[in-house]
Amino acid sequence: MNTAYRELRFSARPEAARYAAAAVLPYVPSGRPAQIVDVGCGTGDTLLAIAQARPLARCVGIDMSEVNLASAAEHVRKAGSGDNFRWVAGDYLSCTLSPADIIFSESVMHLIPADAHIIFRKLKADLGPGGKALLIMPYESIGNRLLIGVRRALRLVRNRAMDAVLLWIARTLYPKWPIEELRERLEYMYVVPLNLDGAEWRGHAKDCGLVLLETVPWKNTSFTKLRHRMLVFERADSAR
Ligand SMILES: C[S@@+](CC[C@H](N)C(=O)[O-])C[C@H]1O[C@@H](n2cnc3c(N)ncnc32)[C@H](O)[C@@H]1O
Repeated sequence: MNTAYRELRFSARPEAARYAAAAVLPYVPSGRPAQIVDVGCGTGDTLLAIAQARPLARCVGIDMSEVNLASAAEHVRKAGSGDNFRWVAGDYLSCTLSPADIIFSESVMHLIPADAHIIFRKLKADLGPGGKALLIMPYESIGNRLLIGVRRALRLVRNRAMDAVLLWIARTLYPKWPIEELRERLEYMYVVPLNLDGAEWRGHAKDCGLVLLETVPWKNTSFTKLRHRMLVFERADSAR
């Protein structure tokens, strides 16, 4: 298990949470208390936006970072929601869930240090009949490979001066972003993804009984961020 994320804060940008909620909502059943799980929910803003649009939903937010979960609970409390929320602190792979209608996860699958089969078996086990897993994650491409190469190089020479230079570049590029949020993202600038979407990743999903229904392009918010897309999987025994 990678414990590095336990101490890290990652505050969602409001526009990013709105964008993710709008992409996930069409898959969320309405008119019944569907169970929605956000794996690596961060500060919970996407889950909250979904809950506001689907008031009957039962929402579960999982995250390794307790500081993120504390903010998530606070955001939900301030919004006057809360009864339909449960927060789980820890590694997704070791948590126990009741069958979910939707499991979504933005920018997290590539951070989990586990064999793809283990991740997909867990996802399949957590989905109820007809359940879907929506995975927003980076994919195999020349651009992403170049960016990963840069990150590997940065990791080798990382020191305080390098952090300061990266932060200065970020402040120049995103002058309107709060400095704290730029600082939170510094750690992620050095992350080398452990999983990427591609033929191999999808093959593992198929082997584990998840059918890929569609792929959805994802807006990129920063040139330093790996390009993502959303993969929509359904449990094979319920796919038509
Ligand atoms: C890049 S942030 C994305 C947060 C949120 N999904 C968003 O888009 O705003 C990655 C999040 O995944 C969490 N995380 C990383 N590995 C995890 C794991 N194995 N289980 C649960 N959460 C994890 C981190 O603590 C962090 O909050």
